[in-house]
Amino acid sequence: MQIFTVTLNPGLDRTLTVPEIRFSEVLRAADLRLDWGGKGFNVSRALQALGVESVAMGFVGGATGEMLAQGLKGLGIETDFVPIDGETRTNTVIAEAGSDRYIKVNEAGPTISAQELAALFARVRSRVSDGSVWVFCGSLPPGAPVDAYAQLIATVQERGGLACLDTSGEALRRGCMVGPYLVKPNVEEAEEATGLAVRSEASIVAAVKHFQEAGVRNVAISLGADGLALGSIEGIVLAKPPPVQARTVVGVGDVLLAGLIWAWGQGATTAEVAAWGVAAGTASAMGEGVSVAALDEVRAVYERVHTAWLA
Ligand SMILES: Nc1ncnc2c1ncn2[C@@H]1O[C@H](COP(=O)(O)OP(=O)(O)OP(=O)(O)O)[C@@H](O)[C@H]1O
Ligand SMILES: [Mg+2]
Repeated sequence: MQIFTVTLNPGLDRTLTVPEIRFSEVLRAADLRLDWGGKGFNVSRALQALGVESVAMGFVGGATGEMLAQGLKGLGIETDFVPIDGETRTNTVIAEAGSDRYIKVNEAGPTISAQELAALFARVRSRVSDGSVWVFCGSLPPGAPVDAYAQLIATVQERGGLACLDTSGEALRRGCMVGPYLVKPNVEEAEEATGLAVRSEASIVAAVKHFQEAGVRNVAISLGADGLALGSIEGIVLAKPPPVQARTVVGVGDVLLAGLIWAWGQGATTAEVAAWGVAAGTASAMGEGVSVAALDEVRAVYERVHTAWLA
């Protein structure tokens, strides 16, 4: 199975750990960590930790873009980027040591021109093959039309590929209308896209059905510490993680998505896929920074995930 992750608005993630988050004071960082960021790259890194290769695609520009591309290559991840005139953004996380409190500030990112976007579509068309899996992640960059993901999903699926989408707002709503293979909103993203409150089990079921009625084939709504609801043709299953000490919640949804794709590639059933996704997300939450977990660590959590059918 060939897997491509596409990040249209990547960034270098700079995590500063401080003893305590305080406002209107100079904080001293006890630790600095750089991650070759972007949500699709998190998926590529998490897949790699599970022993699966993928190609990271998207836009990179300037010195930060160069660092990012080199960083991914250094990790042994294949890249196929479209170069842009603008400078790749830097996103800053201020994390409090010994707690799960953090502040994350994302730059808007460089504006993409029509030519740059056309170059990306050409690159995608040249790479897509029957049965290839495409993972589109994160916000749209300035300059990209709001239906850019919808167009990319259609481009991929017309050629026999399977498209997964993890984004928010109008980009998510438009993407759902072209029948992607999978979407992975979190609670807030699902509430915004469906207009429904996602709280009780009944409302989770209603939200999954809302996405399915829009044409989405598999719906994964991640519920933070409460786990994941996964709706497929088999029904809707709820997978709950064991109680753990979460150290980070940044990028855990991306690692969950990698877990889903990995398990699905192993031919797992819907309930197993949901449990592996949750296990990957929770194993990541137990680590520091944007952490990815190896198969052994994920398996240890998987053994303790509880699944139940909701519908
Ligand atoms: N506090 C926690 N304890 C245990 N597991 C957690 C916790 N928070 C998140 N997880 C795991 O991570 C998965 C994804 O979490 P969440 O729904 O918060 O994703 P997200 O909001 O998309 O995250 P991001 O976009 O930052 O990557 C959950 O389904 C769960 O498996
Ligand atoms: Mg997310």
